[in-house]
Amino acid sequence: MNSVYIVKGNIIYTSRPAEFSVIPNGYVIVRNGCIAYCGESIPSEYEAYPVEDYGDNLIIPGFVDTHAHAPQFCNRGLGMDKELLPWLETYTFPEEAKFSDLEYAKTVYSAFVNELWRYGTTRSILFGTIHKESTLLLMKLLSEAGLSAFVGKVNMDRNSPDYLIEDTERSLHDTRVWLEEAQQFGPLVRPIVTPRFVPSCTSRLMSGLGDLAVEYNVPIQSHLSENHGEIDWVHSLHPDSSSYTDVYCEHRLMGTVPTVMAHCIHLSDEEMERMHETKTMVAHCPYSNVNLSSGIAPIRKLLNHGISIALGSDISGGHDISMAKVLTEAVGLSKMKWAEVDKSYAPLTLPEAFYMATRGGGQFFGDVGSFETGYEFDALVIDDHELFDPNERSIEERLERWLYIGDDRHIVGRYVAGKSLDTPPMAIV
Ligand code: GUN
Ligand code: FE
Repeated sequence: MNSVYIVKGNIIYTSRPAEFSVIPNGYVIVRNGCIAYCGESIPSEYEAYPVEDYGDNLIIPGFVDTHAHAPQFCNRGLGMDKELLPWLETYTFPEEAKFSDLEYAKTVYSAFVNELWRYGTTRSILFGTIHKESTLLLMKLLSEAGLSAFVGKVNMDRNSPDYLIEDTERSLHDTRVWLEEAQQFGPLVRPIVTPRFVPSCTSRLMSGLGDLAVEYNVPIQSHLSENHGEIDWVHSLHPDSSSYTDVYCEHRLMGTVPTVMAHCIHLSDEEMERMHETKTMVAHCPYSNVNLSSGIAPIRKLLNHGISIALGSDISGGHDISMAKVLTEAVGLSKMKWAEVDKSYAPLTLPEAFYMATRGGGQFFGDVGSFETGYEFDALVIDDHELFDPNERSIEERLERWLYIGDDRHIVGRYVAGKSLDTPPMAIV
């Protein structure tokens, strides 16, 4: 492929957390899926190429959701009366068990993929279930939809119900077979090793998965330090480890390949240091942390430790798949941390949260989430004119209003790695 096209509109993105970069009536030149140029006018050598003129609309990077459970899609908005451990037992595990049935998986995963498309989540890092076949089906559906994702077959071999548990050796064997089969989907849809969390994985399983991740050179995702009951449980299961974080490090699940850990709400200073040393990314999931009464993650403190932070919907601990809403909730929750807990935790600014939802999470995928030269062209076209406002607004203000009060109806164009995705995936299936 050697294709070049030009996109024109009001361009706004974050190359760094401190501020938005804004180019009114600007141009992005896309060559072979990547950005060759982004600026105010078309360089002369590109003048002959076709221009997609989006007029007064906003052009922003596609959203990156770094933590969501695809099989929990139908549980959104259910079971918000419990904390993590009883919530898993009562609502989550029974739902996930249904994904041994490929027909059920197809119905739910098709709807889930459609919803990612609808809300402009061009890249995501997903949990499937313990079931290899339905996890491969999820990868196939994402691939057909043109969306990009890391997808994990979940591993669970202890402290889990009879109907959702694996034999240790079988779990490792299935994971190896799945890692082989998952190569077929190419660069946009890739596997990620996914021990559910320490309480549901034996030491033998965790070490085996750490080795598989290195052998196949694939990243790792899991949950870390979400809830006090969970943390106490980890300490009682691993009394010789100095912390929850240490358990992952001891089993080579942190510090080898790129790793993303969801939540990280209650880490000690030493654990934050380990996160930084091992370059582990945090997937901050504000809606989930509120819904399951997990706590308010100390995002400013994690940032001050030099830890990369991205954002996650955590469907269905979180109820909203929209990363626009997740990022505004991250701002809101950080204000509550400042107001109610510690005045030294400066609230997140909007550009900081937008950065986390685009370029921050995008780093896990390579050069993704920004309009800098060389980045893959993932973009959304936002027509905000329906959001009634007779006043003159800056492009930053228009983006802020859309993030807070707009929705998927205003997303009128989507691009992933340079490919325009015009039709909803369900129309294709
Ligand atoms: N910890 C282990 N499993 C889960 C899950 O499915 N959701 C959340 N939020 N935390 C978990
Ligand atoms: Fe989760």
